[in-house]
Amino acid sequence: MQNGKNSQNGNKTNSPDAVNDGIILEMRETKVHFKMDAGLLKAVDGVSLVLRKGGTLGIVGESGCGKSVTASAIFRTLPSYAKITGDILLYEKNGQRLDQPINITKLNPVGPEIRSIRGGNIAMVFQEPMKAFSPIHTIGNQIIEAIRLHVESDERKARRIAIDALGLVGISSPEQRIDEYPHQLSGGMRQRAMIAMALSCKPAILIADEPTTALDVTVQAQVLDLINKLKTEINTSVIYITHDLGVIAETSDDVAVMYLGKVVEYCDVDSLFHNPRHPYTRALLRSIPTADKQRKGRFDSIRGTVPYPMNLPERCGFYDRCDLAEAGLCDKTAAPMVEAAPGHLVRCFKVESYMAKEVV
Ligand SMILES: Nc1ncnc2c1ncn2[C@@H]1O[C@H](COP(=O)(O)OP(=O)(O)OP(=O)(O)O)[C@@H](O)[C@H]1O
Ligand SMILES: [Mg+2]
Repeated sequence: MQNGKNSQNGNKTNSPDAVNDGIILEMRETKVHFKMDAGLLKAVDGVSLVLRKGGTLGIVGESGCGKSVTASAIFRTLPSYAKITGDILLYEKNGQRLDQPINITKLNPVGPEIRSIRGGNIAMVFQEPMKAFSPIHTIGNQIIEAIRLHVESDERKARRIAIDALGLVGISSPEQRIDEYPHQLSGGMRQRAMIAMALSCKPAILIADEPTTALDVTVQAQVLDLINKLKTEINTSVIYITHDLGVIAETSDDVAVMYLGKVVEYCDVDSLFHNPRHPYTRALLRSIPTADKQRKGRFDSIRGTVPYPMNLPERCGFYDRCDLAEAGLCDKTAAPMVEAAPGHLVRCFKVESYMAKEVV
């Protein structure tokens, strides 16, 4: 978390083009707002994060808290009515450290620069596999095209790599399946094909949005192994998005807990599990089903639901669900992010952190 901490602290003093060694991607106060009939939907509302080179950053939170929209902001695959602000800085391209980072939020979403970043620099495993594939081309042609752009230009060799990749993610008879169209595959098979496409591009950054939910346990483990192999082979940096804290414990170095479009807790993985500070994180941890809790018939599911992020008042989004909520304080204004311990950021008035220095 050292870099993350420094970088977050640096928000006020560093210019966006300051080079931060050891960081490959950084989000600074990124917002994605959707203009809807009934008002403004703040899907992502001021997210600041860093992805360290070779590291794995887990993003966790309940359904609707803005995880996928955050991923789409980085990949710039947002719908046309989305308004994106803040910075998403890419510090390295094609293996070269950049003198000036590329600010992804400022790129034309259909222009050549973002297209040259997608695939080899940043690859994405979407939560919805159909987002990754065009329905009118065979999966093989799409995977081979991506490989030829980023890894191996020879078509025959690229086809071989694609077939091997499909086999590795558990697709049987990959020589035949490679010539099928996305709609011919089941949902689980499409998910595997998309993972094969993302991994075979040997990306510097992999964004994996709930990559294993549609897969059975054995294939889940295989996919995590493949991602780890990529990390060992080419030092890929990974953003792992999930609502499963077990997966976070297994995969991540640093963790951002998201709630209602904001990061509410941000720290290294050990601190998250051993010293969680935000009431929401604590509630998430209590809600993990364990064999022991099952035996006792006790599940501490978090009461209430995530509010719909439309036209919300300025206050803590967790107010109605929080055991520590204090009327007159938490319902009057949104809590700032504070550094509760070195490198451990928390957005809450009610933790010990009220003594700590405000950082955002
Ligand atoms: N294209 C869109 N247009 C309008 N609203 C959207 C769009 N995509 C997402 N939203 C809204 O933005 C908020 C965040 O959605 P997002 O998909 O990022 O949640 P998530 O954390 O990925 O949830 P899940 O765990 O269910 O995948 C939600 O309230 C959702 O309804
Ligand atoms: Mg999602």
